[in-house]
Amino acid sequence: MSVEPKKMKAIVQEEYGSAPEDVLRISQVAQPTIGDNELLVRVVAASVDRGTWHMMSGLQYPIRLGIGMRRPKALNPGRSFAGTVEHVGQNVTDFQPGDEVFGTCDGAFAEFARAQSRKIALKPANLSFEQAAAIPVSALTALQALRDKAQLHAGQSVLIVGASGGVGSFAIQIAKALGAEVTGVCSTAKVDLVISLGADHVIDYSLQNFASDTRRYDVILDIGGVSRLSDLRHVLALHGRLVTIGGESTARWIWPTAGRQIRSLFISPFVGQKLLSILASENSEDLSVLRGLVEAANLVPAIDRSFTLSETSAAIRYVQDGHARGKVVVSV
Ligand SMILES: NC(=O)c1ccc[n+]([C@@H]2O[C@H](COP(=O)([O-])OP(=O)(O)OC[C@H]3O[C@@H](n4cnc5c(N)ncnc54)[C@H](OP(=O)(O)O)[C@@H]3O)[C@@H](O)[C@H]2O)c1
Repeated sequence: MSVEPKKMKAIVQEEYGSAPEDVLRISQVAQPTIGDNELLVRVVAASVDRGTWHMMSGLQYPIRLGIGMRRPKALNPGRSFAGTVEHVGQNVTDFQPGDEVFGTCDGAFAEFARAQSRKIALKPANLSFEQAAAIPVSALTALQALRDKAQLHAGQSVLIVGASGGVGSFAIQIAKALGAEVTGVCSTAKVDLVISLGADHVIDYSLQNFASDTRRYDVILDIGGVSRLSDLRHVLALHGRLVTIGGESTARWIWPTAGRQIRSLFISPFVGQKLLSILASENSEDLSVLRGLVEAANLVPAIDRSFTLSETSAAIRYVQDGHARGKVVVSV
C-alpha cells in the first residue's frame, strides 16, 4: 500500500517572470523530502529582500547558472526564514526536532521547507519568529560588509548610502555596536527611521548630494547603488574603504554595479583607498554572531510590514517598488 505524501500550503513558482502577481500562486503541494544531511523546518515567518525578486525573475541571467536555467529549481523564491525543526536527517547532530531556528532555506514561502544545518542557527530568545525571519541575508550582508570588508573599528566614521532599507537598517545598528560614528543617506520619508535606528547624522538625498559635503569618511557602504564612483571616492578618506553592496536595474545580462566594480578592481591597487565589493555568505557562525548582538540589545530588526502567505506577491511588489522602511516579512 503506497503512503500519500503529506501536503502543505505553499507559494509555487513554475516559471521566471518579473511581475510577482503573474508567476506566484498559492497551492497545496507535497511537503519536501529531506536527505541525510538536511532538516525539515516548519516555517513560521519568512522575509522578503531585493534578492527575492532576482530569484523570482531569474535576472540578471548569469544567476540562472545557480538557480535553474529554464525554470526555477526551488519551489518558490523565499530564502530567509524563522521556524522550528520538524525532522532531522540521520547525519544531522547539531539540531533536534522542536529547536527554534532562523537562517536560510529553499522555498521559505511555505509551511515547510528543506534546510541545511550550516545555514541556520538557534533563534535569538528575545525575538519573535517574524523579527528573527527579518535577519538572515540582510543582516549577514551588513555584518560581513562592515566587519570583514571594511574592517570597521571604534572611533571611525562610516557613511551608509541606502541606510533605510533591508541591509541599511541593520548596517546602522551594527556600525554603532562596533563604536563608529554613523551618517545615513536616504529619502525624505525615511529620515525619521534612520535617526531612530541610531544614526548620528542623516543626509536626505533628495535635498543634498553627500558628495558636496566637506567631510571625509573612513568607511563607506554603498547599498543604494546609484552613486558615481568619483563621488564616493571624493568623500572617502585617503586610506578609507568603500564597500559596494548593491544596486538595482532592469538590465538582463549585466549586474547594475558591474561597471563600477570592474573600474574599482582596476583602480584600487593604484590608490590608497580600498575599493571593494561583497557577495554575502549564508553561514551559521555569522547568524550566531547576529544572535549575540540581538541578545545584547545591540540589534533590533526594523519591520515595516507583515503580509500573510497568500499576500506574498504583494510583499515582493512592496519591496520592489521601494516602499520598504527596513524589512518586510511574510507570516506563514
Ligand atoms: N552583495 C550582496 O551580497 C548583497 C546582499 C544583499 C543585498 N544586496 C543588494 O543590495 C541592494 C540593497 O538591498 P536592500 O535589501 O537593502 O534593498 P532595499 O531595502 O530596497 O533598500 C534600498 C536602499 O537604497 C536606497 N536608495 C534608493 N535610491 C537611492 C539614491 N538615489 N541614493 C541613495 N540611496 C538610495 C533606499 O533609500 P530610500 O528607500 O530612502 O529611497 C534604501 O535605503 C540590492 O541591490 C540588493 O540586491 C547585495
